[in-house]
Order: sequence, then C-alpha cells, then structure tokens
Amino acid sequence: MHLSAECVEPVDNPPKRRRTIRAMATEIRIRPLSPADHEAAVNLARSLPEFFNDQGIDEMTTEIPTESGAVAEVDGELVGFVTWTATPELGHIGWIAVRGDHHRHGIGRRLIQVAEDDARRVGAPVLQVETLGESVDYEPYDRTRAFYRSVGFVDLESVLLDNPGMPEMLTLQKRLSKAS
Ligand SMILES: CC(C)(COP(=O)(O)OP(=O)(O)OC[C@H]1O[C@@H](n2cnc3c(N)ncnc32)[C@H](O)[C@@H]1OP(=O)(O)O)[C@@H](O)C(=O)NCCC(=O)NCCS
Repeated sequence: MHLSAECVEPVDNPPKRRRTIRAMATEIRIRPLSPADHEAAVNLARSLPEFFNDQGIDEMTTEIPTESGAVAEVDGELVGFVTWTATPELGHIGWIAVRGDHHRHGIGRRLIQVAEDDARRVGAPVLQVETLGESVDYEPYDRTRAFYRSVGFVDLESVLLDNPGMPEMLTLQKRLSKAS
C-alpha cells in the first residue's frame, strides 16, 4: 500500500506563487512473522505500557513463538504485528499491536485481514479475540474495542475475572464467510 499526500498551499498576495509540499510516500509491507521478529515484536508491545503490563509481556513472550503471525514493516522497521491460531473449528487472535506513531494508518486492519484470510483458508467459521471489558473505566481500551468493532467483530460474551489486570474479559467474534 502507498500512503502519500500532496498539499498545495495558496499564498494570499501577489506575486501569485504556489508552494507545493510533497510528503514522502510511505510503503507499508506486510509479511509473515519469523522467529527473528519475536524480540522486536515484544519490544514494540513494551513501547505501549498503557496496553500491556508486565504480565501481558510475559505471556506474549511465551505465546508468540507458538502462534502463526504477520508483521507490518515501514522502511524495514517492524511497526506492527499480529499472532493467531486457526483450526477448522476456530480462528483466534492471540496478540496484536501497532507502534503508537503509526496508529490510524490502516495497519491494524490489514493485519487482522491476514489472520482472517488464514483462518478462513483452514475452514474456521469464526475469528475470536479477547480484550478488556466495557465495565472497566480505562480509556485506552475504549480505543481497542472501537478498533475491533470497526473491523467487523461483534461482542459475544463478557465474564468477570479475579484478575486485577483484566477484571472483565470481553470476547468479540467475527463470522467468516467460506473461502471461495
Ligand atoms: C488496536 C490497534 C492494533 C489498531 O491498529 P491501527 O493500525 O491503529 O488501526 P487501523 O488504523 O487499522 O484502524 C482501523 C479502524 O479501527 C477504528 N479505530 C482504530 N483506532 C481507533 C481509535 N483510537 N479510536 C476509535 N476508532 C479507532 C477506526 O474505525 C479505524 O478506521 P479509520 O481510521 O478509517 O476511522 C492499535 O491501536 C494498537 O496497537 N493498540 C494498542 C494495542 C492493543 O490494544 N492491542 C489489542 C489488545 S486486546
């Protein structure tokens, strides 16, 4: 995908000149996650402490190597990743994160699409993900839930947990059409 922007800024008074500001085109590359990416992925998550506490970092460090995954790169730097598992019964998002300075550039949507395509390929009827529930008054995860809902997930169920890191766990689900 190419993101580019061109802004033509008029100057009010004569001589009538126009200044052209051309932003650098940014190439976002999506590719499979490899073992060489594991450390960079966990470090990316560490750069988002409002989303991932120490327990989350420990869990993902263990789980990322066991799951399928994809990464997003800009200029050769890892700026996002997703991991998932997929069986004919269920697709499940394990971990997803995009570097803060690249939020809202469509990277998360593209990463979910990769997981979704793979889950559909193996015949999973749905893709599920867990996140922090609505009853917890914590703004960062309002954004996370908005993201999942925006890319097609709907709320499936919510359970209260005896876990200070996640007092309410919301499961969201996206129904997958059959692969053609
Ligand atoms: C959740 C996350 C992966 C989304 O990645 P992203 O690349 O920023 O998301 P996208 O740009 O693809 O957003 C797709 C759509 O989701 C919605 N969305 C994304 N971020 C949003 C926000 N902060 N507020 C409201 N809606 C949002 C929008 O509808 C957006 O489309 P639009 O930009 O055209 O309006 C990213 O914000 C992130 O890394 N968050 C921290 C980690 C995290 O929460 N991981 C999940 C833990 S369960």
